[in-house]
Amino acid sequence: MSPIQQCIKNKDLKVKPIWIMRQAGRYLPEFRKIREKNSNFIELCLNKKLVPEITLQPLKRFDFDAAIIFSDILMVPYGLNQDVRFEKGYGPKLGELNLDLIEKVEIEYFEKRLSPIYQSIEEVKKNNLVLNKDLIGFIGAPWTVLFYMLNKKSPKKEINFNKFLNDEIMVKKLITILEKFLKIHIKKQVDSGSTIIQIFDSWAGLLNNKQLEELVYEPTKRLVDYTKSLGVPVICFPRGIKDYKIFEKETKPDVLNIDYMVDPNQISRDISCVIQGGLDPKFLLMEKTDMKKEAIKYLKIFEEKPYIFNLGHGVLPETNPEMVDYLVKLVKEYGK
Ligand code: CP3
Repeated sequence: MSPIQQCIKNKDLKVKPIWIMRQAGRYLPEFRKIREKNSNFIELCLNKKLVPEITLQPLKRFDFDAAIIFSDILMVPYGLNQDVRFEKGYGPKLGELNLDLIEKVEIEYFEKRLSPIYQSIEEVKKNNLVLNKDLIGFIGAPWTVLFYMLNKKSPKKEINFNKFLNDEIMVKKLITILEKFLKIHIKKQVDSGSTIIQIFDSWAGLLNNKQLEELVYEPTKRLVDYTKSLGVPVICFPRGIKDYKIFEKETKPDVLNIDYMVDPNQISRDISCVIQGGLDPKFLLMEKTDMKKEAIKYLKIFEEKPYIFNLGHGVLPETNPEMVDYLVKLVKEYGK
């Protein structure tokens, strides 16, 4: 059994596996080199030769316990025929959303549009670098994907979601459509060889309690149950929410990824499922001694808990890969 599965299924405290969010990305010079020649990000995510290569880049350098397929949560709106672009220095830019057209999208059409992703997962699966390791597939949670589809850009640029949330009928319709297609996307990734699914809810922290109930807990719970029914563990990352305890009670994931804003000591007391993550990615920009101290803090707090080492958000593009190397070795040496 892989170290992460040992941690999740056997609650093995001796293994402290590690992988990091955005491990295949801009902090790696070998990724930047490919990216320079491939300016269209969506096309890159659909490139059956390059996606496996990029996915495996971090595993060639570091002894991570998992690969995560190089893709994006916005591939689902793309699959539903909404225009999605990434502009340098701006982030994602989505096109007009036509609910009537989206309601007519057929399953076969969606699966065909995203089929290069599934073929890339199959390809990665064949590689020896993932032997006895996990291959993580992922989706954006319904709320976060809906948010991008309606806001059409990152909330860092502009938020006026109260405007669209007032149209309750539209929001309900879109959530229902997304739930259907996110399930398909989960199933196809699992069928192609993903051994874990992570659900990213990057903008859960924007909502109040009543909105969380309807837009986060309820739809997420159904996706968690669905993933479990496929026999695959599910990790949830409701970034920025105040109360991870309620989230755990309402959605019951196998693993909960925590952000760097929450107190890990309190999490350790409150949460009963497996914990993942927490370390502020900014520590990887500091001196090794500072980072070591902070990483050890997390390892100590979760010593008596099943814990998967990871960050509290994606690794920053300005990170020196040497710091990642140092971190992986530190985690692997800890407690030996
Ligand atoms: O973790 C991994 O290595 C797997 C790949 C992965 C990417 N995006 C590749 C990517 C994963 C898991 C994601 C998830 C994702 N995408 C999220 C959830 C996690 C989070 O960050 O909160 C969100 C919100 C998105 C949407 C998205 N994609 C944004 C907002 C951006 C632009 C911001 C940025 O970092 O530039 C992207 C682009 C993106 N997705 C990049 C990568 C490597 C950078 C693209 C580039 O090279 O310019």
